[in-house]
Parts: sequence; C-alpha cells; structure tokens
Amino acid sequence: MTVGNVKEVPVLTRENELDVEGEARVYRSLRHFWHVVAYSHEVTDKPVGFTLLEKDIVIVRLNGEISVFDDICPHRGTRLSLGHVRDGCRLECPYHGWQFDQEGELTLAPQRPDLAGQLRARTRKYLSVEKYGMVWACLEDKPHFPLPDYPVWDNPEFHYVAVSPAEDWDCSAPRRVENYTDYSHFAILHDGFLADRTVPQVPPHDVFRNGNKLENVQGEGAWVRVPIDSAAWGGKDKPADPYLRMYFKWRVFMPLTCVYDISFQDGNRYHLLFHPTPMGPRKTRNFTVSHRDFGDKAKANEELGDFVKLIYDQDRWVVESQRPEELPEDLTKEMHVKGVDKYSVEYRMWLLELARELTKPVIHLHQESVK
Ligand code: FES
Ligand SMILES: [Fe+2]
Repeated sequence: MTVGNVKEVPVLTRENELDVEGEARVYRSLRHFWHVVAYSHEVTDKPVGFTLLEKDIVIVRLNGEISVFDDICPHRGTRLSLGHVRDGCRLECPYHGWQFDQEGELTLAPQRPDLAGQLRARTRKYLSVEKYGMVWACLEDKPHFPLPDYPVWDNPEFHYVAVSPAEDWDCSAPRRVENYTDYSHFAILHDGFLADRTVPQVPPHDVFRNGNKLENVQGEGAWVRVPIDSAAWGGKDKPADPYLRMYFKWRVFMPLTCVYDISFQDGNRYHLLFHPTPMGPRKTRNFTVSHRDFGDKAKANEELGDFVKLIYDQDRWVVESQRPEELPEDLTKEMHVKGVDKYSVEYRMWLLELARELTKPVIHLHQESVK
C-alpha cells in the first residue's frame, strides 16, 4: 500500500512471531479465561478495586450480587472503587455523585435529576460469578473454558483451611503455575518441609489432557515421604515411622487454575485450589482455598494454613528471580529433563496452542520512503 510518498511494507518475521511475540500472545490470550479477582468475604458494603490483565476493575455487591465494572466513571474518569454503595443497590462515584445500577447504567446525576433516564452513560460490566468463596471474572463475553471443578467445597467430610491473604508476586502467572506443578524442586527447595533431599527422584507419573485439564497422576504406591518434624501436617498423630507418606494427584484447569489432591498413607486427605491471577504480564495475585478431612476444625488455619504460607514464602524469592519473567515460548531456550520436566513441557505446549487459537499475531509495519 502506498500512502503519499510512503510505502508501508508488512513485515512478519519468523523470529518475531515465534519468540517475544509468542510470549506476548500467551499473555493476551489469558483475557479469554475466568480469573479470581477477590475472595467473596472481601466484597462487603464497599467497592473493591483490582487490576486484571492491566484493566482496572471495580468489584461491588449490589442487591446482594457481585457486579464487576470498569473502574472509571464516564463523567470525568474518576475511579469508582473510591466511591460508595447507596441503599445496597447503586454504586456512587465519589466526585460528583453519579450513581450506577447493577448493570452499570447511570440512574442519577444529582445536579440534574431531571435528566434521569435520558443521559446515556454507563460503565462497562464484565462477566462475574461467585464460586468456592471467590469472585471470578472474565474480560471477554464468552470464556473459552468453564469454571474449574473443586468438588470438596461442598463435601461435608472436609473442613475449610484458610491460607494467608492473597499476595502479589513479581512474576508472570504461568511461571507461578509451573512452580506449583514442578515436582522436582520439592526435595531441594522444600527439603524437610515437603520432601527430603536424600530422595530427590521424581516418582513415575502420567501426564495427559482430560477435557480442559492437564492431569498429572503418579503411579501406584509412588509415595512422597515427608519428615514429620517439619510440622507440616499438624493435627495428625505422629507415627512411629519418622516419615509421613503422601500421594499427589494434581491438575491444571487450563490455563492457570491448579487443583491438588493429597492423600496420606493413613487415608487422610488434603485438597487445594490455587489460582494465580495475572494483574499484568509480570505481576500476579495468588488466591488459594483448601480443605482437609482430618484434625481439629478449629485449629485448621494455624496447623495447615500457616504451613502452606511458609511453603509459599520459600517459593517466592526463587520464582521472582526467574528470567525471562514469562515462560519462554521457544522450548529450546531452557533445558528439560526427560521423565522429570514432562509436566512443564506439556503445559507450555498447551498454553501456546491456546494462544495461537485465541489471538492473532501483531503485524509490524515498516515505513520506507519512496524516492
Ligand atoms: S467524575 Fe464521576 S460523577 Fe463526576
Ligand atoms: Fe514450591
């Protein structure tokens, strides 16, 4: 195409498409999925601001139901999350008091109440739902996959174990998922807490796709042994054997929700759902809910929730140090060990497939002068 004396030449190089652009496409594709934006108990009678994929949103409870809007007033651009809930059913901007209903439609401009119903102003509303004690939202109208399953939420045999408040980490969300699913660091980084460095081998395991899940199932009898002195699993009777033995089964509901089932040799169970929500390409908020079917319910948070937080702290400085911050789209940029890193490799390949399916490459234009 020639515009005036300038010729625009579309250039889409292989290197660009498959390298940096590939990582950017993974990030862009994440807007097509459900993400946790708050714990339910955090959204009471005040609006809550959050940043999802660099989009500022406000989460508010109107008429008892969650609504998620753009965090910007159409009048003068003020953050609505600084405002108030009026009569339990309208969100009021703090600047000039414009009020918005559950659908984000303007219902009142106090300075000109006579214009009610005539001003065509609204703040954009996004899909949202409350499930598993969390608020989930999606920036696209049709989420690519349904919400993850976490059946123990409704199972009376289990009781809730609160893990610390959500924390913001300086890392990409897929890096954090890989950390969660990376079995082979347990014996080293979590030596004495989640495993034992004298047994660093990774048990045989199968990795396979099942619907929207990437499953990881260990072989029969592939117990992970944990020193009981780690105080890891408070509330359990100490066995004569100095080790507890655990069996892991985990899955990622693509692209980011990790669900663990841990069974102990004595039959006790601990389940956990974890979602690292991308606030930006290199900023992640970590949300966790978990349940166990053993021990004293009243002591669950202190005995196990605090332990999970301790493990998170051990992971944090390592994950935040990883470079590049995004998972390299080019698998040859890092080394993968057969039988050990299979889960990571399969995870990356699926992420990239989703990115290719849901996003288009950016075409960069060169401009050349035409003599
Ligand atoms: S900026 Fe919101 S009411 Fe004026
Ligand atoms: Fe870890």
